[in-house]
Amino acid sequence: MEKRPVNILLCTDNEGKIAEIRARWNVAGTKIWSIEEINSAFGLSLTAPNVVEDGHTLEENAWLKTEGWYKQLGPVLGQVFGGEIAFLAEDSGLFVYALPGKLGVFSKRFAPKEMQETMGVAQANNTQLLQLLTAVPTARRTGHYAAALCLVDISGEILFETTGELKVTIVTEARGSLGFGYDPLTVPNGQAKTFGEMTTEEKNSLGTHRTRALDQLVAWLQTQVA
Ligand code: IMP
Repeated sequence: MEKRPVNILLCTDNEGKIAEIRARWNVAGTKIWSIEEINSAFGLSLTAPNVVEDGHTLEENAWLKTEGWYKQLGPVLGQVFGGEIAFLAEDSGLFVYALPGKLGVFSKRFAPKEMQETMGVAQANNTQLLQLLTAVPTARRTGHYAAALCLVDISGEILFETTGELKVTIVTEARGSLGFGYDPLTVPNGQAKTFGEMTTEEKNSLGTHRTRALDQLVAWLQTQVA
């Protein structure tokens, strides 16, 4: 049996993901940190490593993120935390069945670069998605979110990996300003509101792709020796 990590750094600077993970966290004796929190707690000025996410799957990309982060930040953080730090990365995406191969692992890079630079990433991606689905009838505006999580120790050894999924439909007009990414365009199956119209608590309480993956990680951590 592994020893439960005392500290885990979230390998992301996406505030929306950090908020969702934090709201769901329930592991006694394991503290999760964002890079910002580590900087302010220890007077450091670490920056998020720039990772090329060129994997073919979300799982590969989640691992590539942990690799980029543990290699760049491990030496410093190993000293700060006396070796007691692990790295958790998440890669996620929206899979739209009427647009096979277009989003998925490419969800963040979906809209053209110039459009993302002018409008901002999320706004550009949402605009592009609405445009490409203009002629697609409601019944075919279906898809799912998926999330892959990868936890590695300070030497890069994989401690745990898992995935989660959630079916959604894509609305015809953005609704709501909460959440992040494609939230204003996606309604989880069986619900009426888009994620953009839900607080993090509402979104998490439904059980999302990320919470489903996270719950498995939390359950695994709880079985490890504290
Ligand atoms: P990543 O940060 O490289 O994992 O990119 C994930 C992409 O999928 C980004 O465009 C996110 O905005 C989008 N995405 C992932 N999960 C969600 C979600 O829960 N809501 C909205 N968009 C999401």
